Amino acid sequence: MKTDQISNAIQLDSSGRLIHLLGLEGLSKKHLTNILDVADSLIDSNGKLKKSKVLDNMSIANLFFEPSTRTRNTFEIAAKRTSANVINVDLKNSATKKNESIIDTMRTLEAMQIDMFVIRHKQNGLPHMVAESIGNVSILNAGDGINAHPTQALLDMLSIRQHKKDFKKLSVAIVGDIVHSRVAHSDIQALKTLGTTDIRLIAPPPLQYDAEKCVAINCYDDIEKGIEDCDVVMILRLQKERMLEAEIPNEQEYFDRYGLSTGRLALAKPDAIVMHPGPINRGVEIESSVADGPNSIILKQVTNGIAVRMAVMEILARKD
Ligand code: CP
Repeated sequence: MKTDQISNAIQLDSSGRLIHLLGLEGLSKKHLTNILDVADSLIDSNGKLKKSKVLDNMSIANLFFEPSTRTRNTFEIAAKRTSANVINVDLKNSATKKNESIIDTMRTLEAMQIDMFVIRHKQNGLPHMVAESIGNVSILNAGDGINAHPTQALLDMLSIRQHKKDFKKLSVAIVGDIVHSRVAHSDIQALKTLGTTDIRLIAPPPLQYDAEKCVAINCYDDIEKGIEDCDVVMILRLQKERMLEAEIPNEQEYFDRYGLSTGRLALAKPDAIVMHPGPINRGVEIESSVADGPNSIILKQVTNGIAVRMAVMEILARKD
Protein backbone atom coordinates (compact mmCIF):
# COMPACT_ATOMS: atom_id res chain seq x y z
CA MET A 1 0.00 0.00 0.00
CA LYS A 2 1.25 3.53 -0.79
CA THR A 3 1.85 5.61 2.31
CA ASP A 4 -0.50 8.40 1.19
CA GLN A 5 -3.38 5.88 1.08
CA ILE A 6 -2.99 4.98 4.76
CA SER A 7 -5.33 6.62 7.28
CA ASN A 8 -4.79 6.83 11.03
CA ALA A 9 -8.41 7.89 11.67
CA ILE A 10 -9.21 4.71 13.58
CA GLN A 11 -6.65 5.53 16.29
CA LEU A 12 -8.98 8.08 17.91
CA ASP A 13 -12.43 7.32 19.31
CA SER A 14 -15.40 9.63 18.74
CA SER A 15 -14.36 11.83 21.67
CA GLY A 16 -10.77 12.19 20.40
CA ARG A 17 -9.25 9.76 22.90
CA LEU A 18 -6.24 7.75 21.70
CA ILE A 19 -7.16 4.06 21.43
CA HIS A 20 -4.30 2.91 19.13
CA LEU A 21 -1.02 4.55 18.13
CA LEU A 22 -0.68 3.98 14.40
CA GLY A 23 0.99 7.18 13.23
CA LEU A 24 1.29 10.87 14.04
CA GLU A 25 -0.76 12.32 11.17
CA GLY A 26 -4.13 13.27 12.68
CA LEU A 27 -2.79 13.79 16.20
CA SER A 28 -2.97 17.35 17.53
CA LYS A 29 -0.27 19.35 19.29
CA LYS A 30 -2.27 18.68 22.49
CA HIS A 31 -2.05 14.89 21.94
CA LEU A 32 1.70 15.02 21.29
CA THR A 33 2.43 17.40 24.16
CA ASN A 34 0.39 15.24 26.54
CA ILE A 35 2.44 12.14 25.61
CA LEU A 36 5.70 14.09 26.10
CA ASP A 37 4.49 15.49 29.44
CA VAL A 38 3.50 12.03 30.73
CA ALA A 39 6.89 10.67 29.57
CA ASP A 40 8.68 13.52 31.37
CA SER A 41 6.73 12.77 34.56
CA LEU A 42 8.12 9.21 34.47
CA ILE A 43 11.73 10.46 34.70
CA ASP A 44 12.95 11.60 38.13
CA SER A 45 15.20 14.61 38.80
CA ASN A 46 18.31 12.38 38.52
CA GLY A 47 17.26 11.14 35.07
CA LYS A 48 16.21 7.73 36.41
CA LEU A 49 13.05 6.08 35.10
CA LYS A 50 10.27 5.56 37.62
CA LYS A 51 8.14 2.43 38.02
CA SER A 52 4.36 2.31 38.16
CA LYS A 53 1.46 -0.12 38.54
CA VAL A 54 -0.72 1.43 35.82
CA LEU A 55 -0.66 -1.66 33.58
CA ASP A 56 -1.04 -4.14 36.46
CA ASN A 57 -2.98 -7.22 35.24
CA MET A 58 -2.61 -6.16 31.58
CA SER A 59 -0.84 -8.26 28.95
CA ILE A 60 1.25 -6.85 26.09
CA ALA A 61 2.36 -8.93 23.09
CA ASN A 62 5.43 -7.86 21.11
CA LEU A 63 5.15 -8.98 17.48
CA PHE A 64 8.33 -8.07 15.62
CA PHE A 65 8.30 -9.43 12.06
CA GLU A 66 11.48 -7.37 11.37
CA PRO A 67 14.69 -7.24 13.45
CA SER A 68 14.96 -4.69 16.25
CA THR A 69 17.22 -3.99 19.22
CA ARG A 70 16.06 -0.61 20.54
CA THR A 71 12.31 -0.65 19.89
CA ARG A 72 11.58 -4.24 20.93
CA ASN A 73 13.65 -4.17 24.11
CA THR A 74 12.51 -0.72 25.23
CA PHE A 75 8.87 -1.72 24.67
CA GLU A 76 9.50 -4.80 26.81
CA ILE A 77 11.25 -2.79 29.55
CA ALA A 78 8.52 -0.13 29.41
CA ALA A 79 5.78 -2.74 29.78
CA LYS A 80 7.55 -4.37 32.73
CA ARG A 81 8.16 -1.00 34.44
CA THR A 82 4.42 -0.34 34.27
CA SER A 83 3.73 -3.81 35.77
CA ALA A 84 2.29 -5.46 32.64
CA ASN A 85 2.86 -9.08 31.61
CA VAL A 86 4.89 -9.22 28.39
CA ILE A 87 4.94 -11.89 25.71
CA ASN A 88 7.58 -11.71 22.99
CA VAL A 89 5.83 -13.80 20.34
CA ASP A 90 8.34 -16.17 18.76
CA LEU A 91 7.34 -15.51 15.16
CA LYS A 92 10.06 -17.77 13.71
CA ASN A 93 8.28 -20.71 15.39
CA SER A 94 4.70 -19.49 15.25
CA ALA A 95 1.79 -20.83 13.22
CA THR A 96 2.41 -18.06 10.66
CA LYS A 97 5.03 -20.54 9.37
CA LYS A 98 2.14 -22.99 8.78
CA ASN A 99 0.34 -20.43 6.62
CA GLU A 100 -1.87 -19.01 9.35
CA SER A 101 -2.74 -15.47 8.28
CA ILE A 102 -1.52 -12.56 10.37
CA ILE A 103 -5.12 -11.62 11.20
CA ASP A 104 -5.88 -15.18 12.40
CA THR A 105 -2.71 -15.10 14.52
CA MET A 106 -3.83 -11.77 16.02
CA ARG A 107 -7.34 -13.05 16.69
CA THR A 108 -5.85 -16.10 18.39
CA LEU A 109 -3.73 -13.87 20.63
CA GLU A 110 -6.76 -11.67 21.30
CA ALA A 111 -8.57 -14.81 22.54
CA MET A 112 -5.70 -15.18 25.06
CA GLN A 113 -6.88 -11.83 26.51
CA ILE A 114 -3.94 -9.76 25.35
CA ASP A 115 -4.63 -6.04 25.86
CA MET A 116 -2.07 -4.44 23.50
CA PHE A 117 -0.16 -5.58 20.42
CA VAL A 118 3.14 -3.91 19.55
CA ILE A 119 3.70 -4.60 15.85
CA ARG A 120 6.66 -4.09 13.54
CA HIS A 121 6.25 -5.26 9.95
CA LYS A 122 7.81 -4.52 6.57
CA GLN A 123 4.39 -3.91 4.98
CA ASN A 124 3.12 -0.32 4.96
CA GLY A 125 -0.19 -0.13 6.83
CA LEU A 126 -0.09 -3.61 8.40
CA PRO A 127 -0.76 -2.29 11.97
CA HIS A 128 -3.68 -0.25 10.57
CA MET A 129 -5.13 -3.37 8.94
CA VAL A 130 -4.86 -5.26 12.23
CA ALA A 131 -6.52 -2.37 14.11
CA GLU A 132 -9.44 -2.51 11.62
CA SER A 133 -9.83 -6.26 12.12
CA ILE A 134 -9.40 -6.72 15.87
CA GLY A 135 -11.99 -5.66 18.42
CA ASN A 136 -10.67 -4.95 21.88
CA VAL A 137 -6.88 -4.75 21.57
CA SER A 138 -4.90 -1.51 21.30
CA ILE A 139 -2.36 -1.56 18.46
CA LEU A 140 0.98 0.21 18.78
CA ASN A 141 2.87 0.68 15.55
CA ALA A 142 6.56 -0.12 16.15
CA GLY A 143 7.46 0.64 12.51
CA ASP A 144 5.61 -0.30 9.31
CA GLY A 145 7.58 -0.41 6.06
CA ILE A 146 8.53 3.10 4.98
CA ASN A 147 5.34 4.54 6.44
CA ALA A 148 5.65 5.45 10.12
CA HIS A 149 7.54 4.90 13.36
CA PRO A 150 5.50 7.01 15.78
CA THR A 151 7.14 6.08 19.09
CA GLN A 152 10.58 6.81 17.58
CA ALA A 153 9.41 10.29 16.57
CA LEU A 154 7.91 10.86 20.01
CA LEU A 155 11.14 9.87 21.76
CA ASP A 156 13.00 12.13 19.34
CA MET A 157 10.70 15.04 20.26
CA LEU A 158 11.17 14.33 23.98
CA SER A 159 14.95 14.31 23.47
CA ILE A 160 14.85 17.61 21.54
CA ARG A 161 12.57 19.20 24.16
CA GLN A 162 15.04 18.27 26.92
CA HIS A 163 17.74 20.33 25.16
CA LYS A 164 15.89 23.03 23.19
CA LYS A 165 13.03 25.02 24.59
CA ASP A 166 10.93 26.22 21.65
CA PHE A 167 10.13 23.99 18.65
CA LYS A 168 9.01 27.07 16.69
CA LYS A 169 12.51 28.58 16.74
CA LEU A 170 14.41 25.46 15.71
CA SER A 171 16.27 24.68 12.51
CA VAL A 172 16.33 20.91 12.10
CA ALA A 173 18.38 19.07 9.48
CA ILE A 174 17.54 15.44 8.68
CA VAL A 175 20.38 13.85 6.71
CA GLY A 176 20.52 10.60 4.78
CA ASP A 177 18.15 8.08 3.30
CA ILE A 178 14.98 10.18 3.53
CA VAL A 179 12.87 8.31 0.99
CA HIS A 180 13.04 4.92 2.73
CA SER A 181 12.79 6.29 6.26
CA ARG A 182 9.67 5.77 8.35
CA VAL A 183 11.53 7.68 11.09
CA ALA A 184 11.96 10.76 8.87
CA HIS A 185 8.29 10.60 7.89
CA SER A 186 7.11 10.52 11.52
CA ASP A 187 9.71 13.06 12.72
CA ILE A 188 8.71 15.56 10.02
CA GLN A 189 5.07 15.12 11.02
CA ALA A 190 5.83 15.60 14.73
CA LEU A 191 8.05 18.66 14.15
CA LYS A 192 5.39 20.32 11.98
CA THR A 193 2.68 19.64 14.58
CA LEU A 194 4.88 21.11 17.32
CA GLY A 195 5.51 24.26 15.27
CA THR A 196 8.93 23.81 13.59
CA THR A 197 8.97 25.43 10.17
CA ASP A 198 12.69 25.24 9.28
CA ILE A 199 13.01 21.53 8.48
CA ARG A 200 15.79 20.71 6.01
CA LEU A 201 16.03 17.33 4.29
CA ILE A 202 19.53 16.53 3.03
CA ALA A 203 20.04 13.51 0.76
CA PRO A 204 21.51 12.37 -2.55
CA PRO A 205 18.82 12.72 -5.26
CA PRO A 206 17.87 8.97 -5.43
CA LEU A 207 17.26 8.96 -1.63
CA GLN A 208 15.45 12.32 -1.48
CA TYR A 209 11.71 13.00 -1.58
CA ASP A 210 10.31 13.74 -5.04
CA ALA A 211 10.04 17.27 -6.41
CA GLU A 212 6.35 17.54 -5.45
CA LYS A 213 7.05 16.86 -1.76
CA CYS A 214 10.13 19.11 -1.83
CA VAL A 215 7.92 22.10 -2.73
CA ALA A 216 6.55 22.10 0.82
CA ILE A 217 9.84 21.46 2.63
CA ASN A 218 13.47 22.53 2.21
CA CYS A 219 15.38 19.83 0.29
CA TYR A 220 19.15 19.95 -0.17
CA ASP A 221 21.73 17.66 -1.74
CA ASP A 222 24.66 19.61 -0.24
CA ILE A 223 25.12 18.71 3.44
CA GLU A 224 27.38 21.71 4.07
CA LYS A 225 24.68 24.16 2.98
CA GLY A 226 21.92 22.16 4.65
CA ILE A 227 23.33 21.98 8.16
CA GLU A 228 24.51 25.60 8.33
CA ASP A 229 23.42 27.13 11.69
CA CYS A 230 21.16 24.18 12.53
CA ASP A 231 20.08 23.48 16.12
CA VAL A 232 19.43 19.79 15.55
CA VAL A 233 21.16 17.39 13.14
CA MET A 234 19.41 14.04 12.76
CA ILE A 235 21.35 11.41 10.86
CA LEU A 236 19.67 8.42 9.18
CA ARG A 237 21.03 5.00 8.27
CA LEU A 238 21.17 3.84 4.65
CA GLN A 239 18.26 1.39 4.69
CA LYS A 240 19.67 -1.08 2.22
CA GLU A 241 16.97 -3.63 3.00
CA ARG A 242 14.45 -1.24 1.40
CA MET A 243 16.57 -0.13 -1.57
CA LEU A 244 16.72 -1.35 -5.14
CA GLU A 245 20.19 -2.54 -6.23
CA ALA A 246 20.67 0.58 -8.39
CA GLU A 247 20.00 2.90 -5.43
CA ILE A 248 22.61 1.40 -3.11
CA PRO A 249 25.38 3.99 -2.80
CA ASN A 250 29.08 3.27 -2.59
CA GLU A 251 29.63 3.69 1.18
CA GLN A 252 32.95 5.54 0.93
CA GLU A 253 31.58 7.99 -1.63
CA TYR A 254 28.45 8.40 0.46
CA PHE A 255 30.51 9.21 3.56
CA ASP A 256 32.68 11.65 1.58
CA ARG A 257 29.62 13.58 0.34
CA TYR A 258 27.02 13.14 3.10
CA GLY A 259 28.72 11.73 6.20
CA LEU A 260 28.61 13.82 9.39
CA SER A 261 32.22 14.58 10.31
CA THR A 262 33.55 16.88 13.03
CA GLY A 263 34.39 19.45 10.34
CA ARG A 264 30.86 19.44 8.95
CA LEU A 265 29.25 19.54 12.39
CA ALA A 266 31.19 22.79 13.02
CA LEU A 267 28.92 24.41 10.39
CA ALA A 268 25.88 23.88 12.66
CA LYS A 269 25.37 25.97 15.82
CA PRO A 270 28.01 25.24 18.50
CA ASP A 271 25.32 23.79 20.80
CA ALA A 272 23.64 21.75 18.05
CA ILE A 273 22.52 18.30 19.16
CA VAL A 274 23.32 15.25 17.03
CA MET A 275 20.68 12.52 16.88
CA HIS A 276 20.38 9.13 15.19
CA PRO A 277 17.56 6.59 15.60
CA GLY A 278 20.07 3.74 15.30
CA PRO A 279 21.41 1.35 14.41
CA ILE A 280 24.38 3.53 13.44
CA ASN A 281 26.91 2.65 10.76
CA ARG A 282 30.14 4.32 11.80
CA GLY A 283 32.18 5.67 8.90
CA VAL A 284 29.18 5.45 6.56
CA GLU A 285 26.70 8.10 7.72
CA ILE A 286 28.52 9.38 10.81
CA GLU A 287 32.10 9.62 12.04
CA SER A 288 32.76 7.89 15.39
CA SER A 289 34.14 11.10 16.90
CA VAL A 290 30.73 12.73 16.27
CA ALA A 291 28.60 9.73 17.30
CA ASP A 292 30.49 9.56 20.62
CA GLY A 293 31.20 13.30 20.90
CA PRO A 294 29.85 16.00 23.23
CA ASN A 295 27.00 17.06 20.92
CA SER A 296 25.66 13.53 20.52
CA ILE A 297 22.48 12.53 22.39
CA ILE A 298 22.14 9.18 20.58
CA LEU A 299 22.17 7.01 23.71
CA LYS A 300 19.90 9.46 25.55
CA GLN A 301 17.38 8.85 22.77
CA VAL A 302 17.46 5.13 23.62
CA THR A 303 16.71 5.77 27.31
CA ASN A 304 13.95 8.22 26.40
CA GLY A 305 12.40 5.45 24.32
CA ILE A 306 11.48 3.67 27.55
CA ALA A 307 9.76 6.73 29.06
CA VAL A 308 7.85 7.49 25.85
CA ARG A 309 6.69 3.90 25.44
CA MET A 310 5.61 3.76 29.09
CA ALA A 311 3.68 7.00 28.53
CA VAL A 312 1.93 5.78 25.38
CA MET A 313 0.90 2.50 27.02
CA GLU A 314 -0.34 4.36 30.10
CA ILE A 315 -2.44 6.71 27.95
CA LEU A 316 -3.88 3.84 25.88
CA ALA A 317 -4.77 1.95 29.07
CA ARG A 318 -6.82 4.88 30.42
CA LYS A 319 -10.52 4.35 30.05
CA ASP A 320 -11.58 7.97 30.80
N1 CP B 1 15.38 3.02 15.97
C1 CP B 1 14.97 1.75 15.80
O1 CP B 1 13.83 1.50 15.37
O2 CP B 1 15.91 0.81 16.11
P1 CP B 1 15.65 -0.77 16.13
O3 CP B 1 15.50 -1.21 14.70
O4 CP B 1 16.86 -1.35 16.81
O5 CP B 1 14.38 -1.00 16.89
